[in-house]
Amino acid sequence: MSAPVIEVAGLSVRYRTAKGPALAVDDVGFALSPGERLGLVGESGSGKSTTVLALMRMIKPPGAIDGRILLEGRDVLALSEEELRRARFARMSLVPQGAMSSLNPVLRIRSQFADLFAAHGERADGHRIAALLARVGLPAGVADRHPHELSGGMKQRVCIALAIALTPAVILADEPTSALDVVVQKQVLATLGRVQQEIGAAIVLIGHDMALMAHFVDRIGVMYAGRLVETGPVKAVFRAPRHPYTRMLIGALPSLTERRAFQGIPGVPPSLTDRPPGCPFQTRCPAAEARCRTEAPPARTVGPGHEAACHFAEAA
Ligand SMILES: Nc1ncnc2c1ncn2[C@@H]1O[C@H](COP(=O)(O)OP(=O)(O)O)[C@@H](O)[C@H]1O
Ligand SMILES: [Mg+2]
Repeated sequence: MSAPVIEVAGLSVRYRTAKGPALAVDDVGFALSPGERLGLVGESGSGKSTTVLALMRMIKPPGAIDGRILLEGRDVLALSEEELRRARFARMSLVPQGAMSSLNPVLRIRSQFADLFAAHGERADGHRIAALLARVGLPAGVADRHPHELSGGMKQRVCIALAIALTPAVILADEPTSALDVVVQKQVLATLGRVQQEIGAAIVLIGHDMALMAHFVDRIGVMYAGRLVETGPVKAVFRAPRHPYTRMLIGALPSLTERRAFQGIPGVPPSLTDRPPGCPFQTRCPAAEARCRTEAPPARTVGPGHEAACHFAEAA
């Protein structure tokens, strides 16, 4: 295995709030090899977006980041503002949640590419932009359009083209297809996967559609209340999920073959400002015992590259 392109350890993000500090990301760690695909799943509010924003150092006050992020061996949290500016897009890029609405509405697509290249001291000729658009399946004429003249799927493809324009080593894609209809979702995800492979970048893909995710990623990470409660090879996690939360998420999978109604998971996650001691999942866990109310479960290894933070993970 080659050296990891990104290594994250002990990553935490705290927001200062009126009710005290809210721990939105709690001790998250993972590493990715070049070209590897990690999927991050979990309910809304579990800390997925905050995690990728922290990797980009895009958490704004009153948020604060702790821990270690090594991008190609460089300590991201120690970079100067200028080094950080140069690393963004060029070494690690983000397709943010709701990316298509982040395109500048008053600029033609061409100008948005030109601005990106200019910010990195590179020239943007028409051929280069046309080639990038072609890579994501868009005709060259898209360069002359404004965002409002494009469909959702086309805008999302533009965002992907911007994210790969400077051939980063890591792509972070936050629910890149969630606003699109099912058929377009699959096409856009296939395009993202193809260009990611072509440039050999590792990718962190956030999504809440477990089925779509299962087909795309190599490894999956399940987040709950800011923690990575289970990580492992996607096949192993689906075949033998070891955390009760993962089992419930997979059980809640709307299956195309079974056509049964989507069942949410009963209950709500704990407050991030007032966390109970013990396991964050205890209040919703069908298997919780006395120990879970007092003792926070550390990550336990349950198989090759497979970890789960549950006291009973080995027995599951
Ligand atoms: N600026 C902020 N101030 C306080 N809390 C925040 C802020 N931004 C996000 N959060 C909280 O952090 C938690 C994680 O949010 P987020 O990372 O967006 O979750 P996800 O992407 O998994 O839906 C949520 O509970 C959210 O309310
Ligand atoms: Mg999010």
